[in-house]
Amino acid sequence: MLPEVRWDFDPQRAVAALWRVVFIGSDDWQAGRGLPDAASERRCTDLREQQLFRAKDGEVLALYGCREGGEHLLLVGLGDAPRARQWRQGAAKAVACLRERQCKQWCFELAPGAAPDCVAWILDGCLLELYRFDHYRHDVEQKLPASVTIHLLSPSLPEDELESMARQRLVIAQGVALARDLVNEPSNVKTPAYLAQQAWDLAAELGLKATILGPAALKEQGFGALLAVAQGSAQPPRLIVLEYGGGEQDEAPLALVGKGVTFDSGGISLKPGENMDQMKMDMAGGAVVLAVLQTAARLKLPVNLIGVVPAVENMPSGQATRPGDIVMALSGRSIEILNTDAEGRLILADALHWAAQKKPRAIIDLATLTGACIIALGHHAAAVLGSDEGLLKVLQEAGERCGERLWPLPLFEDYREQLKSKVADLKNIGGKAAGTITAAAFLSHFVADCPWAHLDIAGTAWEEQGKPGQPAGATGFGVRLLVDYLLEQASR
Ligand code: BES
Ligand code: MN
Ligand code: ZN
Repeated sequence: MLPEVRWDFDPQRAVAALWRVVFIGSDDWQAGRGLPDAASERRCTDLREQQLFRAKDGEVLALYGCREGGEHLLLVGLGDAPRARQWRQGAAKAVACLRERQCKQWCFELAPGAAPDCVAWILDGCLLELYRFDHYRHDVEQKLPASVTIHLLSPSLPEDELESMARQRLVIAQGVALARDLVNEPSNVKTPAYLAQQAWDLAAELGLKATILGPAALKEQGFGALLAVAQGSAQPPRLIVLEYGGGEQDEAPLALVGKGVTFDSGGISLKPGENMDQMKMDMAGGAVVLAVLQTAARLKLPVNLIGVVPAVENMPSGQATRPGDIVMALSGRSIEILNTDAEGRLILADALHWAAQKKPRAIIDLATLTGACIIALGHHAAAVLGSDEGLLKVLQEAGERCGERLWPLPLFEDYREQLKSKVADLKNIGGKAAGTITAAAFLSHFVADCPWAHLDIAGTAWEEQGKPGQPAGATGFGVRLLVDYLLEQASR
């Protein structure tokens, strides 16, 4: 959840903020440049000479009562070649530092000539850090203030541009917060029906079209692979579809498909107990899809979107699918289920086929699909695979800009060999080798000839420790990436 955020761009009123945050690169610091006034310059001389602060990337220094008006100064180091990442993390660190001081009003002060992009980066870092998921806790000393005021002084941008940039960044951060909230919510609350209700409420609020299929409709229409996953759970499945029409009437939509396993126990191929609680995050792809639809609608982006979230719970029970069972997917292919823990690809098989039938201009799916992805890339990039080189490239560029990195893996025809079954059209596991790729190869059978990109976010959807701009727990990875991609498309 985010606190209520108020903006103020008026230099006069900024004095009300006791803290001024100033960003400074290490070269400027060494040369004695970039401090906001003579009083802070005097105060900093000793610090510099004794090397007590060096304005390194990530370094933060609080100086009490050092400005001419008696305000406090928070110096944020940017290191020697600051890029988006350093600005975002610096702003996030500043907010963390001021929150510790119980401060609800602060002022970011940019040097004359700072690039407009810096404003966006600061706002992102700041808003991402403000997020907390603590409404189940009664003991937190530092509950977030219910509202904060961010003063922003940027001599190089007129007030109306600051205003619209701030609104855009806030709406995006609220999208990230929605995705994080949904993923952090425990699975006893967040059932498939709960996700469907959330989507329904979003649609009502934003004028989106919502279509929700329950078990009876899914059965009637032949979602055999999805139902095979759902059948072990007492929680009935849903197929959630949201449509947003911000583009031309006759323009084919972009389809976003997100894995929505509200809890992945592994099913009969039960997972080990250790860290199984983390599998409440197995609907992170679905959460991103809902959040991107919210954000696109609130920003009135000129695109047509169709968001599809197959929502199921993967549980073992007397009704559960067994290893060796053969089921019929919606596309008509038969699948031998050899491991019930490879469930994501099963529900996506049906959701992708359904989406492809809508003849979208492209499909992008997001899924916490394979542990192998964490082995390959760790937690610093999501894997991207697919059939359309152009789409993969622009997505990767968007990731580079916004700091949600993607890294490509190949999808050679040869990998499909590993999915051949002796008794059905496909089997749902491809053996030890190249787990992330064979999972994607499985999905590739269900997208027809539609341009398609698959993002495996298993390693990036969840942050174990917590870092600047990213408290421990759900990351919302993918929301800023896709919104950045859509903004870039819209500006062409
Ligand atoms: N949801 C998991 C993948 C996962 C693992 C996501 C760890 C995030 C963190 C997925 O459903 C799964 O269990 N995949 C199996 C596939 C295997 C059985 C072929 C895996 O990766 O072990
Ligand atoms: Mn699984
Ligand atoms: Zn899973």
